[in-house]
Formats: sequence, structure tokens, C-alpha cells
Amino acid sequence: MADKYPWKVAWITGASGAICGDVARRLADGGVKVAATARPSEALDRIGSEHENITAYPADVLDADALKDCAAKIAGELGAIDLLIAGAGMYEPFDIDDVDVAGFAKTMDLNVSGVMNTVASALPAMLARRSGHIALMGSLFGYTGWPGNGGYGASKAAIINLAESLALELRKTGVDITLVSPGFVDTQLNASYEGKKHFVMSPERCAKRILKRLPGRPYEIAFPVQVALFLKLVRAMPNGVGRAMIRAFIKAMG
Ligand SMILES: NC(=O)c1ccc[n+]([C@@H]2O[C@H](COP(=O)([O-])OP(=O)(O)OC[C@H]3O[C@@H](n4cnc5c(N)ncnc54)[C@H](OP(=O)(O)O)[C@@H]3O)[C@@H](O)[C@H]2O)c1
Repeated sequence: MADKYPWKVAWITGASGAICGDVARRLADGGVKVAATARPSEALDRIGSEHENITAYPADVLDADALKDCAAKIAGELGAIDLLIAGAGMYEPFDIDDVDVAGFAKTMDLNVSGVMNTVASALPAMLARRSGHIALMGSLFGYTGWPGNGGYGASKAAIINLAESLALELRKTGVDITLVSPGFVDTQLNASYEGKKHFVMSPERCAKRILKRLPGRPYEIAFPVQVALFLKLVRAMPNGVGRAMIRAFIKAMG
């Protein structure tokens, strides 16, 4: 089983959550040593004690210094981190009639700065070793604007741009970057989303799809494929046409 995946040590933030928790379990089952990070909680303790290959490393991704210490501790205890999955994230509703600016700032902080803090903690050692793999959890909602999604969508659009920049700069460094963009997954994260959810998948199915392709180190893993293609087409269209396509989609799908 030890060779099921091409990594020995994986560091996963958001590992007490639904999607990354399942990714952590699957990697651990496949023989990968997993460092599971989230803020201290019973859920993190649980995942840290349920599998011999999973160790909890509590940290807040908003605390850049604590995260650097955490990365050094993991490398010292488990070995060099060769896969990083930056998965900590959140969703806040976005209502133009009552814009929650604090919620917007919180979302941008966690979903963008939290990811940057995480990458900055692991990247120097990967560059020094000329080897490593970084996966950023994006979202299909990052590909184009969507009603009710002004905060979350903006934060995930930033992640898409960050991944593009990193992909350009990391070329020939031995470090690969993968942007992971799932559609709706049935988790607590989007419980407050008020629109209709289309093509919803379970966290287990999502994790399985991610891990089916991640070992190949592609630049992008985006699914469900039909939704990803639609949103990319919207993006490529002249603005008015793209927005008309979104309105038509919402009308047709309810
Ligand atoms: N669910 C979806 O529909 C969907 C779709 C596409 C992409 N995604 C993305 O996939 C990732 C995981 O989503 P999910 O649905 O599995 O979310 P989830 O179940 O709500 O899990 C979120 C995780 O982030 C952690 N977290 C939150 N704030 C943190 C902080 N300050 N420091 C460290 N960890 C923190 C949470 O733990 P604590 O709060 O205990 O720290 C938890 O482990 C997110 O990036 C999300 O945007 C989700």
C-alpha cells in the first residue's frame, strides 16, 4: 500500500473539515504520513487519533509565524513535506441589500491570506530540495461571478490567479502546483448558501475525484466537468454574453 501515492509526507490544512478530512484519511490509508492542521478542536483531535498515519498539528492559518513553526515541526517529526494541500476555507453569504463587510474581510483573510501563509510556510524547503507538490483548494465559483457569491467567489478568483502566477514561477523548480476546483459539495461550509445548489456531490466523492488525479500533478482538477466547461465558456465570452448565459442557466435550472 505504501506506493499507492507518490508522496511520503502530506501537510493538509482544513483537515478537520469534510473534504480535506476525507482526503487525509484516504492518503493515510495509502501509506502517506499525514500532518493534519486546523484550529484546535475535538474534530481535529478525532482525526489525529483515528489513524496511525495521521498526526494533528493544530494551528491557525491566519497566524503566519505559528504556521512556519508548524511546518518546521512537521518536517522535523514526520520528514520533508512533499505534498501540501491548502484546504482551510469558509463561505459567507453576500447580500447586496445589506453587505456584510466584516464577513467579506473574514472570507478574504481566510481563503486568500490563509492560503498564502500556508504556501509561504512550506515553499522555501520545497524549493531548497527542488521537489514538492502544492495543491490549492479553489472552487468553480472562482471562475466567474455568480449571484450571492460576491465574497466567496472573489476569494476563490484570487486563488485561481495566485495558482497561475505560481505555475509560471515554479516552472523548472521541481515544485508543482495544482489548482483544485470542485463544484458544490455537501458540507457545512455552504450551509448558509441561499441559492439553489446544482450538481451537489458528497465530500467522499469529491475527495476520491481529487486523489484520482492529484498524483499525476496536473495544473488543474476541476469538476463536475460539465459545470467547469460551462463556467470557463462564460469567462471566455464577451461580458454581456457571459452574463446572459448565467441568467439563462439560473432560469433553466431553477
Ligand atoms: N463545500 C463545497 O461546496 C466546496 C466546493 C469547492 C471548494 N471548496 C473548498 O474546499 C475546502 C474545504 O471545504 P469544506 O467544504 O470541506 O469545508 P469545511 O468542512 O467547512 O472545513 C473547513 C476547514 O477549514 C478549517 N479552518 C477554518 N478556519 C481556519 C483557520 N483560521 N485556521 C486553520 N483552519 C481553519 C476548519 O477547521 P476549524 O474551523 O476547526 O479551524 C475546517 O477544517 C475549502 O477551501 C473550500 O472553499 C468547498
